[in-house]
Amino acid sequence: MMKRDQERQRSWAPASVLGATIVVFAFELLLTSAVAQTATSYAPVAIKDSFQDTMVRMAAAKKQVMQRATDLLNERYDLTDRPAKAVTMSRGKPVQSGVRVKLPSGVTWDALATMTAQEIRERDLFPRGFLPLPHPNHAEGGMVFPQHHIDEIKRQEARDLTRFDLDYDLPKHFLPDYPPAIYLTTRPDLGDVSQGKVVTIDNFYELFNGILNPKQIEGLRLLVTPFPQQQYNQTEDRRSARPHRGVTCLDCHVNGHTNAATHLVGDIRPQEFRHGLDTPTLRGVNIQRLFGSQRALKTVEDFTEFEQRAAYFDGDHVIAAKKGVNVLDRGSQVHFMAEMEELFDFPPAPKLDIFGKLRRDAATESELRGQDVFFSKGRCAECHPAPYYTDNLMHNLQTERFFRPQMVNGRMAVGDGPIKTFPLRGIKDSPPYLHDRRLLTLEDTVEFFNMITEVKLTEQEKKDVVAFLRCL
Ligand code: HEC
Ligand code: HEC
Repeated sequence: MMKRDQERQRSWAPASVLGATIVVFAFELLLTSAVAQTATSYAPVAIKDSFQDTMVRMAAAKKQVMQRATDLLNERYDLTDRPAKAVTMSRGKPVQSGVRVKLPSGVTWDALATMTAQEIRERDLFPRGFLPLPHPNHAEGGMVFPQHHIDEIKRQEARDLTRFDLDYDLPKHFLPDYPPAIYLTTRPDLGDVSQGKVVTIDNFYELFNGILNPKQIEGLRLLVTPFPQQQYNQTEDRRSARPHRGVTCLDCHVNGHTNAATHLVGDIRPQEFRHGLDTPTLRGVNIQRLFGSQRALKTVEDFTEFEQRAAYFDGDHVIAAKKGVNVLDRGSQVHFMAEMEELFDFPPAPKLDIFGKLRRDAATESELRGQDVFFSKGRCAECHPAPYYTDNLMHNLQTERFFRPQMVNGRMAVGDGPIKTFPLRGIKDSPPYLHDRRLLTLEDTVEFFNMITEVKLTEQEKKDVVAFLRCL
Protein backbone atom coordinates (compact mmCIF):
# COMPACT_ATOMS: atom_id res chain seq x y z
CA MET A 1 0.00 0.00 0.00
CA MET A 2 2.72 2.41 1.05
CA LYS A 3 4.81 1.45 -1.96
CA ARG A 4 1.85 2.09 -4.22
CA ASP A 5 1.32 5.56 -2.73
CA GLN A 6 4.96 6.43 -3.31
CA GLU A 7 4.75 5.20 -6.87
CA ARG A 8 1.63 7.22 -7.48
CA GLN A 9 3.34 10.34 -6.16
CA ARG A 10 6.29 9.70 -8.42
CA SER A 11 3.99 9.43 -11.42
CA TRP A 12 2.62 12.90 -10.69
CA ALA A 13 6.11 14.49 -11.06
CA PRO A 14 6.31 16.93 -14.02
CA ALA A 15 7.20 15.05 -17.18
CA SER A 16 8.51 17.43 -19.82
CA VAL A 17 9.59 14.89 -22.42
CA LEU A 18 6.83 13.28 -24.47
CA GLY A 19 8.30 9.81 -23.98
CA ALA A 20 8.27 10.23 -20.25
CA THR A 21 4.65 11.42 -20.38
CA ILE A 22 3.63 8.30 -22.24
CA VAL A 23 5.47 6.12 -19.72
CA VAL A 24 3.74 7.94 -16.87
CA PHE A 25 0.37 7.61 -18.61
CA ALA A 26 0.89 3.87 -19.12
CA PHE A 27 1.91 3.56 -15.49
CA GLU A 28 -1.24 5.36 -14.35
CA LEU A 29 -3.31 2.95 -16.43
CA LEU A 30 -1.59 0.04 -14.74
CA LEU A 31 -2.30 1.52 -11.34
CA THR A 32 -5.96 2.13 -12.14
CA SER A 33 -6.43 -1.43 -13.28
CA ALA A 34 -4.68 -2.66 -10.11
CA VAL A 35 -7.10 -0.60 -8.02
CA ALA A 36 -10.08 -1.81 -10.05
CA GLN A 37 -8.98 -5.39 -9.40
CA THR A 38 -8.96 -4.99 -5.62
CA ALA A 39 -12.49 -3.57 -5.59
CA THR A 40 -14.26 -6.92 -5.52
CA SER A 41 -16.66 -8.29 -2.93
CA TYR A 42 -15.42 -11.85 -3.51
CA ALA A 43 -12.49 -13.79 -2.07
CA PRO A 44 -10.39 -15.75 -4.60
CA VAL A 45 -11.70 -19.30 -5.09
CA ALA A 46 -8.74 -20.71 -7.04
CA ILE A 47 -5.61 -20.47 -4.87
CA LYS A 48 -2.47 -20.16 -7.00
CA ASP A 49 0.24 -20.57 -4.33
CA SER A 50 0.88 -23.98 -2.81
CA PHE A 51 -0.30 -24.41 0.78
CA GLN A 52 3.27 -24.98 1.92
CA ASP A 53 4.48 -21.70 0.35
CA THR A 54 1.62 -19.74 1.89
CA MET A 55 2.25 -21.20 5.32
CA VAL A 56 5.99 -20.55 5.21
CA ARG A 57 5.47 -16.97 4.01
CA MET A 58 2.74 -16.10 6.53
CA ALA A 59 4.42 -17.84 9.46
CA ALA A 60 7.57 -15.83 8.73
CA ALA A 61 5.57 -12.58 8.83
CA LYS A 62 3.74 -13.48 12.06
CA LYS A 63 6.19 -11.89 14.46
CA GLN A 64 6.08 -8.55 12.68
CA VAL A 65 2.29 -8.66 12.38
CA MET A 66 1.93 -9.24 16.12
CA GLN A 67 4.48 -6.53 16.90
CA ARG A 68 2.38 -4.03 14.96
CA ALA A 69 -0.77 -5.12 16.80
CA THR A 70 0.80 -4.87 20.26
CA ASP A 71 2.45 -1.54 19.40
CA LEU A 72 -1.01 -0.17 18.64
CA LEU A 73 -2.39 -1.50 21.94
CA ASN A 74 0.50 0.05 23.89
CA GLU A 75 0.09 3.35 22.10
CA ARG A 76 -3.60 3.47 23.03
CA TYR A 77 -3.90 1.79 26.43
CA ASP A 78 -2.26 1.33 29.80
CA LEU A 79 -2.04 -2.47 29.74
CA THR A 80 -0.71 -3.05 33.26
CA ASP A 81 -2.33 -5.64 35.54
CA ARG A 82 -4.18 -3.54 38.13
CA PRO A 83 -7.04 -5.51 39.66
CA ALA A 84 -9.76 -3.64 41.54
CA LYS A 85 -9.98 -4.29 45.27
CA ALA A 86 -12.65 -6.78 46.33
CA VAL A 87 -14.46 -6.95 42.97
CA THR A 88 -14.37 -10.15 40.98
CA MET A 89 -16.20 -11.78 38.12
CA SER A 90 -18.65 -14.56 38.96
CA ARG A 91 -16.01 -17.29 39.23
CA GLY A 92 -13.47 -15.11 41.02
CA LYS A 93 -11.23 -13.52 38.39
CA PRO A 94 -10.31 -9.97 39.50
CA VAL A 95 -11.97 -7.09 37.60
CA GLN A 96 -9.40 -4.66 36.14
CA SER A 97 -9.59 -1.10 37.46
CA GLY A 98 -8.93 2.41 36.22
CA VAL A 99 -9.23 4.30 32.95
CA ARG A 100 -6.88 2.55 30.51
CA VAL A 101 -7.41 4.69 27.43
CA LYS A 102 -4.46 7.11 27.26
CA LEU A 103 -5.16 10.83 27.08
CA PRO A 104 -3.69 12.93 24.24
CA SER A 105 -0.84 15.01 25.68
CA GLY A 106 -1.69 18.31 27.35
CA VAL A 107 -5.36 17.62 28.18
CA THR A 108 -7.33 16.09 31.06
CA TRP A 109 -10.63 14.17 30.93
CA ASP A 110 -12.34 17.17 32.50
CA ALA A 111 -10.85 19.56 29.94
CA LEU A 112 -12.00 17.29 27.10
CA ALA A 113 -15.51 17.10 28.55
CA THR A 114 -15.86 20.88 28.36
CA MET A 115 -14.91 21.02 24.65
CA THR A 116 -17.38 20.69 21.80
CA ALA A 117 -17.21 17.70 19.46
CA GLN A 118 -16.10 20.04 16.68
CA GLU A 119 -13.24 21.40 18.76
CA ILE A 120 -12.05 17.91 19.64
CA ARG A 121 -12.21 16.92 16.00
CA GLU A 122 -10.40 19.98 14.74
CA ARG A 123 -7.62 19.81 17.35
CA ASP A 124 -7.31 16.04 16.85
CA LEU A 125 -7.91 15.39 20.57
CA PHE A 126 -10.19 12.34 20.44
CA PRO A 127 -8.36 9.74 22.57
CA ARG A 128 -6.92 7.03 20.24
CA GLY A 129 -8.43 4.29 22.39
CA PHE A 130 -11.94 5.58 21.58
CA LEU A 131 -11.38 4.92 17.87
CA PRO A 132 -12.51 1.61 16.36
CA LEU A 133 -10.05 -1.16 17.27
CA PRO A 134 -8.73 -3.07 14.25
CA HIS A 135 -8.47 -6.85 14.10
CA PRO A 136 -4.93 -8.01 15.09
CA ASN A 137 -4.26 -8.34 11.35
CA HIS A 138 -7.08 -6.43 9.73
CA ALA A 139 -6.16 -7.11 6.11
CA GLU A 140 -6.27 -10.85 6.81
CA GLY A 141 -9.06 -11.05 9.42
CA GLY A 142 -10.74 -14.24 10.61
CA MET A 143 -11.30 -15.97 13.94
CA VAL A 144 -8.56 -15.61 16.58
CA PHE A 145 -8.69 -17.41 19.95
CA PRO A 146 -6.92 -16.54 23.22
CA GLN A 147 -3.99 -18.86 23.92
CA HIS A 148 -5.50 -20.33 27.10
CA HIS A 149 -8.49 -21.51 25.09
CA ILE A 150 -6.27 -23.02 22.39
CA ASP A 151 -4.37 -24.90 25.11
CA GLU A 152 -7.51 -26.21 26.80
CA ILE A 153 -9.13 -27.48 23.56
CA LYS A 154 -5.88 -29.17 22.56
CA ARG A 155 -5.74 -30.82 25.97
CA GLN A 156 -9.35 -32.04 25.92
CA GLU A 157 -10.00 -32.80 22.25
CA ALA A 158 -6.59 -32.87 20.53
CA ARG A 159 -8.04 -30.21 18.20
CA ASP A 160 -5.51 -27.43 17.60
CA LEU A 161 -6.89 -23.90 17.12
CA THR A 162 -3.43 -22.38 16.53
CA ARG A 163 -3.17 -20.17 13.43
CA PHE A 164 0.20 -20.20 11.74
CA ASP A 165 -0.18 -16.54 10.77
CA LEU A 166 -1.63 -14.90 13.87
CA ASP A 167 -1.98 -14.91 17.67
CA TYR A 168 -4.47 -13.24 20.01
CA ASP A 169 -3.39 -9.75 21.00
CA LEU A 170 -4.91 -8.59 24.35
CA PRO A 171 -3.28 -9.63 27.67
CA LYS A 172 -5.15 -12.31 29.61
CA HIS A 173 -5.96 -10.12 32.61
CA PHE A 174 -8.36 -8.08 30.45
CA LEU A 175 -10.35 -11.16 29.41
CA PRO A 176 -13.33 -12.87 31.11
CA ASP A 177 -13.21 -15.64 33.73
CA TYR A 178 -11.90 -18.88 32.23
CA PRO A 179 -13.71 -21.19 32.44
CA PRO A 180 -16.76 -19.01 33.07
CA ALA A 181 -19.71 -20.03 35.22
CA ILE A 182 -22.91 -21.40 33.67
CA TYR A 183 -26.30 -20.40 35.08
CA LEU A 184 -29.44 -22.02 33.68
CA THR A 185 -32.73 -20.11 33.43
CA THR A 186 -34.50 -23.42 34.07
CA ARG A 187 -32.54 -24.42 37.20
CA PRO A 188 -31.64 -21.27 39.19
CA ASP A 189 -31.55 -23.49 42.29
CA LEU A 190 -28.33 -25.15 41.05
CA GLY A 191 -26.23 -21.97 40.76
CA ASP A 192 -23.13 -22.44 38.60
CA VAL A 193 -23.37 -25.82 36.83
CA SER A 194 -19.98 -25.67 35.04
CA GLN A 195 -18.14 -27.62 37.77
CA GLY A 196 -15.20 -25.38 36.86
CA LYS A 197 -14.85 -27.05 33.46
CA VAL A 198 -14.81 -25.87 29.86
CA VAL A 199 -17.75 -27.65 28.24
CA THR A 200 -16.70 -29.60 25.13
CA ILE A 201 -17.74 -32.64 23.13
CA ASP A 202 -15.71 -34.67 25.65
CA ASN A 203 -17.72 -33.80 28.76
CA PHE A 204 -21.07 -32.18 27.82
CA TYR A 205 -23.02 -35.37 28.22
CA GLU A 206 -21.78 -36.27 31.69
CA LEU A 207 -22.19 -32.65 32.83
CA PHE A 208 -25.75 -32.16 31.57
CA ASN A 209 -27.50 -35.54 31.39
CA GLY A 210 -30.22 -35.34 34.05
CA ILE A 211 -30.32 -31.52 34.11
CA LEU A 212 -31.48 -30.76 30.54
CA ASN A 213 -34.15 -32.40 28.43
CA PRO A 214 -33.04 -34.56 25.48
CA LYS A 215 -33.73 -31.83 22.88
CA GLN A 216 -31.57 -29.39 24.83
CA ILE A 217 -28.78 -31.97 25.19
CA GLU A 218 -28.90 -32.44 21.42
CA GLY A 219 -28.74 -28.65 20.97
CA LEU A 220 -25.71 -28.53 23.27
CA ARG A 221 -24.07 -31.37 21.35
CA LEU A 222 -24.35 -29.29 18.18
CA LEU A 223 -22.99 -26.21 19.99
CA VAL A 224 -19.82 -28.16 20.87
CA THR A 225 -19.48 -29.92 17.50
CA PRO A 226 -16.78 -28.52 15.16
CA PHE A 227 -17.92 -27.23 11.76
CA PRO A 228 -15.65 -26.04 8.91
CA GLN A 229 -14.86 -22.35 8.83
CA GLN A 230 -12.82 -19.88 6.77
CA GLN A 231 -9.50 -20.35 8.64
CA TYR A 232 -10.14 -23.86 9.94
CA ASN A 233 -11.19 -26.29 7.19
CA GLN A 234 -9.90 -29.09 5.03
CA THR A 235 -8.91 -27.17 1.90
CA GLU A 236 -5.56 -25.61 1.00
CA ASP A 237 -7.14 -22.23 1.79
CA ARG A 238 -6.85 -22.33 5.59
CA ARG A 239 -4.68 -20.92 8.40
CA SER A 240 -4.09 -24.08 10.44
CA ALA A 241 -1.04 -26.22 9.82
CA ARG A 242 -3.07 -29.40 9.37
CA PRO A 243 -6.44 -29.89 7.65
CA HIS A 244 -8.96 -28.99 10.29
CA ARG A 245 -12.31 -30.31 11.53
CA GLY A 246 -13.40 -26.75 12.28
CA VAL A 247 -14.62 -24.64 15.18
CA THR A 248 -17.51 -25.04 17.60
CA CYS A 249 -19.97 -22.37 18.69
CA LEU A 250 -18.65 -22.66 22.24
CA ASP A 251 -15.05 -22.16 21.06
CA CYS A 252 -15.94 -18.46 21.25
CA HIS A 253 -19.11 -18.46 23.36
CA VAL A 254 -17.31 -20.69 25.87
CA ASN A 255 -19.72 -22.17 28.43
CA GLY A 256 -22.46 -20.02 26.88
CA HIS A 257 -20.50 -16.92 27.88
CA THR A 258 -17.46 -15.52 26.02
CA ASN A 259 -13.67 -15.80 25.98
CA ALA A 260 -13.39 -12.54 23.98
CA ALA A 261 -12.27 -14.37 20.83
CA THR A 262 -12.13 -11.86 17.98
CA HIS A 263 -13.21 -11.80 14.35
CA LEU A 264 -14.21 -9.36 11.60
CA VAL A 265 -17.83 -8.56 10.89
CA GLY A 266 -18.99 -10.34 7.73
CA ASP A 267 -21.39 -7.69 6.53
CA ILE A 268 -19.16 -4.95 5.11
CA ARG A 269 -16.95 -4.43 2.07
CA PRO A 270 -14.24 -3.44 1.36
CA GLN A 271 -12.07 -5.10 4.00
CA GLU A 272 -10.77 -1.91 5.66
CA PHE A 273 -14.32 -0.81 6.54
CA ARG A 274 -15.21 -4.10 8.26
CA HIS A 275 -15.59 -3.76 12.04
CA GLY A 276 -13.41 -5.75 14.41
CA LEU A 277 -15.53 -7.86 16.77
CA ASP A 278 -15.72 -9.02 20.36
CA THR A 279 -17.60 -12.26 20.99
CA PRO A 280 -20.76 -11.28 22.90
CA THR A 281 -21.92 -13.45 25.78
CA LEU A 282 -24.94 -15.66 25.13
CA ARG A 283 -26.11 -15.06 28.72
CA GLY A 284 -29.50 -13.40 28.55
CA VAL A 285 -30.24 -13.87 24.84
CA ASN A 286 -33.66 -15.05 26.06
CA ILE A 287 -34.73 -11.51 26.96
CA GLN A 288 -33.23 -9.87 23.85
CA ARG A 289 -34.94 -9.03 20.60
CA LEU A 290 -32.09 -8.08 18.24
CA PHE A 291 -28.98 -10.11 17.47
CA GLY A 292 -25.61 -9.06 16.05
CA SER A 293 -24.03 -5.66 16.66
CA GLN A 294 -25.12 -4.40 13.25
CA ARG A 295 -27.33 -6.96 11.52
CA ALA A 296 -30.14 -6.80 14.07
CA LEU A 297 -31.46 -10.25 13.15
CA LYS A 298 -34.76 -10.82 14.86
CA THR A 299 -34.40 -14.23 16.50
CA VAL A 300 -31.74 -16.45 18.09
CA GLU A 301 -32.76 -19.07 15.50
CA ASP A 302 -31.92 -16.69 12.66
CA PHE A 303 -28.57 -15.84 14.19
CA THR A 304 -27.69 -19.49 14.81
CA GLU A 305 -28.37 -20.28 11.18
CA PHE A 306 -26.53 -17.16 10.02
CA GLU A 307 -23.36 -17.79 12.09
CA GLN A 308 -22.82 -21.06 10.25
CA ARG A 309 -23.77 -19.99 6.79
CA ALA A 310 -22.40 -16.46 6.68
CA ALA A 311 -20.22 -15.37 9.63
CA TYR A 312 -18.07 -18.51 9.50
CA PHE A 313 -17.20 -17.58 5.92
CA ASP A 314 -17.17 -13.77 6.05
CA GLY A 315 -20.56 -13.42 4.40
CA ASP A 316 -19.28 -15.16 1.26
CA HIS A 317 -21.49 -18.08 0.25
CA VAL A 318 -19.21 -18.91 -2.67
CA ILE A 319 -16.21 -19.64 -0.44
CA ALA A 320 -18.52 -21.35 2.06
CA ALA A 321 -19.53 -23.90 -0.59
CA LYS A 322 -15.90 -24.53 -1.48
CA LYS A 323 -14.80 -25.09 2.12
CA GLY A 324 -17.59 -27.46 3.07
CA VAL A 325 -20.14 -25.37 4.97
CA ASN A 326 -22.30 -27.46 7.27
CA VAL A 327 -25.88 -26.42 6.57
CA LEU A 328 -28.01 -26.93 9.66
CA ASP A 329 -31.59 -28.11 9.46
CA ARG A 330 -33.82 -25.25 10.59
CA GLY A 331 -36.69 -27.29 11.97
CA SER A 332 -34.63 -29.57 14.17
CA GLN A 333 -30.96 -28.67 14.62
CA VAL A 334 -31.24 -24.86 14.59
CA HIS A 335 -34.28 -24.99 16.82
CA PHE A 336 -32.56 -27.28 19.36
CA MET A 337 -29.42 -25.14 19.45
CA ALA A 338 -31.42 -21.95 19.89
CA GLU A 339 -33.43 -23.52 22.70
CA MET A 340 -30.17 -24.39 24.46
CA GLU A 341 -28.75 -20.88 23.92
CA GLU A 342 -31.87 -19.39 25.51
CA LEU A 343 -31.12 -21.29 28.74
CA PHE A 344 -27.88 -19.41 29.50
CA ASP A 345 -28.89 -16.95 32.22
CA PHE A 346 -27.28 -13.73 33.44
CA PRO A 347 -25.14 -14.26 36.57
CA PRO A 348 -26.86 -13.68 39.93
CA ALA A 349 -26.86 -10.01 41.05
CA PRO A 350 -27.66 -10.24 44.76
CA LYS A 351 -27.85 -6.47 45.21
CA LEU A 352 -30.68 -6.04 42.68
CA ASP A 353 -34.40 -6.28 43.48
CA ILE A 354 -37.16 -7.55 41.18
CA PHE A 355 -37.19 -4.23 39.32
CA GLY A 356 -33.48 -4.53 38.64
CA LYS A 357 -32.72 -1.63 41.00
CA LEU A 358 -30.40 -1.65 44.01
CA ARG A 359 -31.79 -2.88 47.32
CA ARG A 360 -31.38 0.08 49.64
CA ASP A 361 -30.24 -2.16 52.51
CA ALA A 362 -27.63 -4.06 50.43
CA ALA A 363 -25.88 -1.26 48.55
CA THR A 364 -23.17 1.23 49.54
CA GLU A 365 -23.62 5.01 49.43
CA SER A 366 -21.42 5.24 46.35
CA GLU A 367 -23.38 2.53 44.49
CA LEU A 368 -26.67 4.27 45.30
CA ARG A 369 -25.34 7.62 44.13
CA GLY A 370 -24.08 5.88 40.96
CA GLN A 371 -27.56 4.50 40.33
CA ASP A 372 -29.02 8.00 40.63
CA VAL A 373 -26.51 9.40 38.15
CA PHE A 374 -27.16 6.47 35.77
CA PHE A 375 -30.91 7.18 35.77
CA SER A 376 -30.81 11.00 35.86
CA LYS A 377 -27.91 13.30 34.99
CA GLY A 378 -25.93 10.59 33.12
CA ARG A 379 -28.94 9.69 30.92
CA CYS A 380 -27.58 6.13 30.62
CA ALA A 381 -30.99 4.58 31.37
CA GLU A 382 -32.54 6.23 28.32
CA CYS A 383 -30.82 3.52 26.29
CA HIS A 384 -30.10 1.04 29.11
CA PRO A 385 -33.37 0.81 31.13
CA ALA A 386 -33.80 -1.65 34.04
CA PRO A 387 -34.21 -4.54 34.71
CA TYR A 388 -31.76 -5.84 32.05
CA TYR A 389 -30.28 -2.48 31.12
CA THR A 390 -31.01 -2.66 27.42
CA ASP A 391 -33.78 -1.06 25.37
CA ASN A 392 -33.46 -3.84 22.77
CA LEU A 393 -32.81 -1.24 20.10
CA MET A 394 -29.98 0.02 17.93
CA HIS A 395 -28.45 3.48 18.44
CA ASN A 396 -26.17 5.56 16.28
CA LEU A 397 -23.70 7.15 18.69
CA GLN A 398 -22.32 9.37 15.89
CA THR A 399 -18.72 9.09 17.06
CA GLU A 400 -17.66 10.64 13.73
CA ARG A 401 -18.51 14.01 15.30
CA PHE A 402 -15.22 13.72 17.20
CA PHE A 403 -12.61 12.63 14.62
CA ARG A 404 -11.66 12.68 10.98
CA PRO A 405 -11.69 9.41 9.01
CA GLN A 406 -8.25 7.80 9.33
CA MET A 407 -6.43 4.55 8.60
CA VAL A 408 -5.37 2.58 11.70
CA ASN A 409 -3.40 -0.63 11.00
CA GLY A 410 -5.41 -1.43 7.91
CA ARG A 411 -8.75 -0.33 9.41
CA MET A 412 -10.49 2.74 8.04
CA ALA A 413 -11.76 4.38 11.23
CA VAL A 414 -15.11 6.09 10.60
CA GLY A 415 -18.34 6.35 12.63
CA ASP A 416 -19.88 2.99 13.57
CA GLY A 417 -23.44 3.55 12.35
CA PRO A 418 -26.33 2.04 14.35
CA ILE A 419 -25.12 -0.50 16.95
CA LYS A 420 -27.13 -2.76 19.22
CA THR A 421 -27.53 -1.61 22.84
CA PHE A 422 -25.88 -4.55 24.59
CA PRO A 423 -27.44 -5.33 28.00
CA LEU A 424 -25.47 -4.27 31.07
CA ARG A 425 -26.70 -7.07 33.36
CA GLY A 426 -23.62 -9.06 34.38
CA ILE A 427 -21.39 -6.53 32.57
CA LYS A 428 -18.36 -6.87 34.88
CA ASP A 429 -18.06 -10.49 33.67
CA SER A 430 -17.57 -9.63 30.02
CA PRO A 431 -14.62 -7.36 29.29
CA PRO A 432 -13.39 -6.04 26.90
CA TYR A 433 -16.17 -3.60 25.98
CA LEU A 434 -18.02 -2.29 22.93
CA HIS A 435 -18.67 -4.45 19.90
CA ASP A 436 -15.06 -4.26 18.69
CA ARG A 437 -13.19 -4.63 22.06
CA ARG A 438 -11.98 -1.03 21.96
CA LEU A 439 -12.45 -0.41 25.72
CA LEU A 440 -10.80 -2.49 28.44
CA THR A 441 -12.45 -1.48 31.72
CA LEU A 442 -15.79 -0.18 32.99
CA GLU A 443 -14.01 3.09 33.86
CA ASP A 444 -13.19 3.42 30.16
CA THR A 445 -16.84 2.94 29.20
CA VAL A 446 -17.94 5.69 31.58
CA GLU A 447 -15.37 8.14 30.14
CA PHE A 448 -16.45 7.14 26.63
CA PHE A 449 -20.17 7.72 27.22
CA ASN A 450 -19.48 10.87 29.24
CA MET A 451 -17.84 12.33 26.14
CA ILE A 452 -20.19 10.87 23.52
CA THR A 453 -23.35 11.98 25.34
CA GLU A 454 -21.83 15.28 26.57
CA VAL A 455 -23.39 14.92 30.03
CA LYS A 456 -20.35 16.36 31.86
CA LEU A 457 -20.15 14.10 34.90
CA THR A 458 -17.83 15.06 37.77
CA GLU A 459 -14.93 12.83 38.92
CA GLN A 460 -17.02 11.61 41.85
CA GLU A 461 -20.09 10.92 39.68
CA LYS A 462 -17.98 8.84 37.28
CA LYS A 463 -16.55 6.79 40.17
CA ASP A 464 -20.04 6.20 41.52
CA VAL A 465 -21.39 5.04 38.14
CA VAL A 466 -18.54 2.50 37.93
CA ALA A 467 -19.42 1.25 41.41
CA PHE A 468 -23.05 0.87 40.26
CA LEU A 469 -22.11 -0.96 37.03
CA ARG A 470 -20.16 -3.50 39.10
CA CYS A 471 -23.39 -4.41 40.94
CA LEU A 472 -25.28 -5.30 37.78
C1 HEC B 1 -15.28 -16.12 16.41
C2 HEC B 1 -15.90 -16.92 17.39
C3 HEC B 1 -17.38 -17.26 17.22
C4 HEC B 1 -17.91 -18.49 16.95
C5 HEC B 1 -17.15 -19.75 16.65
C6 HEC B 1 -19.34 -18.33 17.02
N1 HEC B 1 -19.66 -17.05 17.34
FE1 HEC B 1 -21.51 -16.34 17.69
N2 HEC B 1 -20.79 -14.47 17.76
C7 HEC B 1 -19.46 -14.13 17.62
C8 HEC B 1 -19.35 -12.71 17.41
C9 HEC B 1 -18.06 -11.95 17.21
C10 HEC B 1 -20.67 -12.20 17.42
C11 HEC B 1 -21.10 -10.75 17.20
C12 HEC B 1 -21.42 -10.61 15.72
C13 HEC B 1 -21.78 -9.22 15.30
O1 HEC B 1 -21.74 -8.31 16.12
O2 HEC B 1 -22.15 -9.04 14.13
C14 HEC B 1 -21.55 -13.34 17.68
C15 HEC B 1 -22.91 -13.23 17.85
C16 HEC B 1 -23.73 -14.31 18.15
C17 HEC B 1 -25.11 -14.21 18.55
C18 HEC B 1 -25.88 -12.91 18.78
C19 HEC B 1 -25.53 -12.37 20.15
C20 HEC B 1 -25.98 -10.98 20.42
O3 HEC B 1 -25.89 -10.57 21.58
O4 HEC B 1 -26.41 -10.23 19.51
C21 HEC B 1 -25.59 -15.48 18.70
C22 HEC B 1 -26.98 -15.89 19.10
C23 HEC B 1 -24.49 -16.38 18.35
N3 HEC B 1 -23.38 -15.63 18.05
C24 HEC B 1 -24.58 -17.75 18.31
C25 HEC B 1 -23.56 -18.55 17.79
C26 HEC B 1 -23.73 -19.92 17.37
C27 HEC B 1 -25.04 -20.71 17.47
C28 HEC B 1 -22.53 -20.37 16.91
C29 HEC B 1 -22.19 -21.71 16.29
C30 HEC B 1 -22.92 -22.01 15.08
C31 HEC B 1 -21.59 -19.27 17.07
N4 HEC B 1 -22.26 -18.19 17.57
C32 HEC B 1 -20.25 -19.34 16.78
C33 HEC B 1 -18.39 -15.00 17.69
C34 HEC B 1 -18.50 -16.35 17.45
C1 HEC C 1 -27.88 6.83 23.08
C2 HEC C 1 -27.91 5.53 23.71
C3 HEC C 1 -26.93 5.24 24.82
C4 HEC C 1 -26.65 5.99 25.96
C5 HEC C 1 -27.24 7.31 26.36
C6 HEC C 1 -25.69 5.21 26.71
N1 HEC C 1 -25.40 4.04 26.07
FE1 HEC C 1 -24.18 2.57 26.71
N2 HEC C 1 -24.34 1.64 24.94
C7 HEC C 1 -25.14 2.05 23.90
C8 HEC C 1 -24.81 1.28 22.72
C9 HEC C 1 -25.47 1.42 21.36
C10 HEC C 1 -23.79 0.40 23.09
C11 HEC C 1 -23.03 -0.56 22.17
C12 HEC C 1 -21.90 0.22 21.55
C13 HEC C 1 -20.90 -0.63 20.82
O1 HEC C 1 -20.82 -1.83 21.10
O2 HEC C 1 -20.15 -0.10 19.98
C14 HEC C 1 -23.52 0.65 24.49
C15 HEC C 1 -22.56 -0.03 25.24
C16 HEC C 1 -22.31 0.19 26.57
C17 HEC C 1 -21.39 -0.59 27.38
C18 HEC C 1 -20.59 -1.79 26.90
C19 HEC C 1 -21.47 -3.00 26.70
C20 HEC C 1 -20.72 -4.19 26.20
O3 HEC C 1 -21.26 -5.30 26.28
O4 HEC C 1 -19.59 -4.06 25.73
C21 HEC C 1 -21.40 -0.03 28.64
C22 HEC C 1 -20.62 -0.52 29.84
C23 HEC C 1 -22.29 1.10 28.60
N3 HEC C 1 -22.84 1.19 27.33
C24 HEC C 1 -22.52 1.95 29.66
C25 HEC C 1 -23.18 3.16 29.53
C26 HEC C 1 -23.20 4.18 30.55
C27 HEC C 1 -22.52 4.07 31.90
C28 HEC C 1 -23.91 5.22 30.06
C29 HEC C 1 -24.19 6.57 30.70
C30 HEC C 1 -23.02 7.31 31.13
C31 HEC C 1 -24.36 4.83 28.72
N4 HEC C 1 -23.90 3.59 28.44
C32 HEC C 1 -25.15 5.62 27.90
C33 HEC C 1 -26.09 3.03 23.95
C34 HEC C 1 -26.12 4.03 24.89
